[in-house]
Amino acid sequence: MTVTRTIGYIVGSISSTSINRRLARVLENLAPEGIELVEIPIKDLPFYSPDYDADFPQVARDFKQAIADVDGVIVITPEYSRSIPGVLKNALDWSTRPYGEMSFFGKPTAVIGTSGSGVATAAAQQHLRAILGHFNAVTMGQPEGFIQDRPGLFTEDGQVTDDSTAGFLVGYLEAFNGLIARVQHSAELVSA
Ligand SMILES: Cc1cc2nc3c(=O)[nH]c(=O)nc-3n(C[C@H](O)[C@H](O)[C@H](O)COP(=O)(O)O)c2cc1C
Repeated sequence: MTVTRTIGYIVGSISSTSINRRLARVLENLAPEGIELVEIPIKDLPFYSPDYDADFPQVARDFKQAIADVDGVIVITPEYSRSIPGVLKNALDWSTRPYGEMSFFGKPTAVIGTSGSGVATAAAQQHLRAILGHFNAVTMGQPEGFIQDRPGLFTEDGQVTDDSTAGFLVGYLEAFNGLIARVQHSAELVSA
């Protein structure tokens, strides 16, 4: 397969049994022809403090470089206490530093998440969208990815057992690919 576009994804959970990581694997497996999904890991980032600004740690440099290296980023978030988990907020804070070097500025970005509840991470995603808006990320508005988990929906090896969910996720990836294409086309027109 010839890869024409690389999409990074961040999983906002460090749980060893994360259902959002299962969703990430499913998205990897469903990626349309020419699209490669790669993880942008966050679990080794220390808690951000301005004390790091003078000597930015390599792990944070790598994190920011990984965002720079991809065409777009999907943030796959659990919902904790009706918001995003602290580990994800910590990673997003790192992405804004050093001051003036926001990794998500102008970056095509999409949000999605799964939980067992009926709201299926909708509250967390609204908070996440507010943060990404502040970053001036170009965030996909539709389709919204509120995936209600149930036992057996996602297998550990990244298969989805329900055809309508699979169809939705393929459409979600295609829509995000289309958004990236439009952003890249606009950038080419501006620089021409
Ligand atoms: C501290 C904590 C807070 C939670 N708060 C919510 C919540 O507000 N809404 C929700 O739908 N699920 C909530 N849950 C349940 C999570 O959706 C569930 O644990 C899910 O598996 C987390 O995603 P993960 O498996 O990818 O880590 C919470 C779980 C924890 C541990």
